[in-house]
Amino acid sequence: MAGNVTAPTIRAGKGGAPLVMVTAYDAPTARIADDAGVDVILVGDSVAMVVLGYQDTLQVTVADMAHHVAAVARARPRALVVADMPWLSYHLSTDDAVGNAATLIRAGAAAVKLEGGQNRVPVVEALVDAQVPVMGHLGLTPQSVHALGGYRVQGQQAEAATALIDDARALAGAGCFAIVLECVPREVARLITRGVAVPTLGIGAGPDCDGQVLVLHDLLGLEDRIVPKFVRRYASVKVDAVAAVAAYAADVRARAFPSDAESYHLSDEVATSLGIDGFAAMGTDPATRTA
Ligand code: KIV
Repeated sequence: MAGNVTAPTIRAGKGGAPLVMVTAYDAPTARIADDAGVDVILVGDSVAMVVLGYQDTLQVTVADMAHHVAAVARARPRALVVADMPWLSYHLSTDDAVGNAATLIRAGAAAVKLEGGQNRVPVVEALVDAQVPVMGHLGLTPQSVHALGGYRVQGQQAEAATALIDDARALAGAGCFAIVLECVPREVARLITRGVAVPTLGIGAGPDCDGQVLVLHDLLGLEDRIVPKFVRRYASVKVDAVAAVAAYAADVRARAFPSDAESYHLSDEVATSLGIDGFAAMGTDPATRTA
C-alpha cells in the first residue's frame, strides 16, 4: 500500500491483495515490521504473555497498553498502528470505553481493537461516533479464556458457526473497519469473509480471509515454548540469540573480548605525562589504535 496506511485504506482493501498484520510492542519490533512492509501493526494485549511474562492477556491495563503503543508510535511506522483495548477497558460503560480508547489514541494508535460480537455493538457504535476506527475480534477471544474454558478452536458446530457469522455481520454493521478471526475452521472463516463487506484478518482461520495476522515473536521464532498449529516460523531468532550470547560469554571468560581495537586509548602525550608506557607493556601496536 502506498503512503501511510489508514483505517479507510484497510477497509478499502477488501477483496484486493491480501492484507498483512503483525504484532509489535516496542520501537525495535515496530521498525522490523515496518521495514518489512506490513500494512498493520497490532499492539496486541498478547504483550502480556509474549513480553511481560503473564499467563494470560487479562493482566494488562490501559496504562500498560498505552506505554507499549507510545513506544511503537515513536518508531513512526507507515503501517496503521492498532491498539488492543485490554480486558475491562470497554465492558463497564460506553463512556468508559471511549475514554480508554482516547488514552490509546493519544498514546499514538490510529485505531483500536476489541473482542466480542453482537454484545459489543453499542460500544463499537460509541467509538465510531467518537471518530475512533474499530477493528473487531471474533472466534477464540483470549480475554474470554475462563468463560470459554481454555484456548480452543471456536465455531466447530453449526449453531456456533452461525452465531459467528451473525456476530461478524453485527460488527461490520456497527462500523468496524476490519475483523480478526482467530482459531475458527477454514470453512467458517470463508463464509464470514464472503458474508461481510469489511476485510477479515485470520489467525488460525485458514487462507481464505482477506489478510493474515501473526504474533511477531512467533513468526520470528523468538517465542519458542508454545507453537500453535497455525504458526509458521520464518526464523529461529531465539536459537540464534542464545548462541550469540553464549559466544559472548565464552569470549569474556577467555579474555578474548574486548580486543585492543575495541578499546579506547590515551594519547601518547597524556600516557607519557602519567608515566605510562602502556602500549609496549600491553604488546599493542599503536598503528592499529583508535583514540
Ligand atoms: O493480542 C494479539 O496479539 C491479538 C492477535 C492474536 C490477533 O489479538
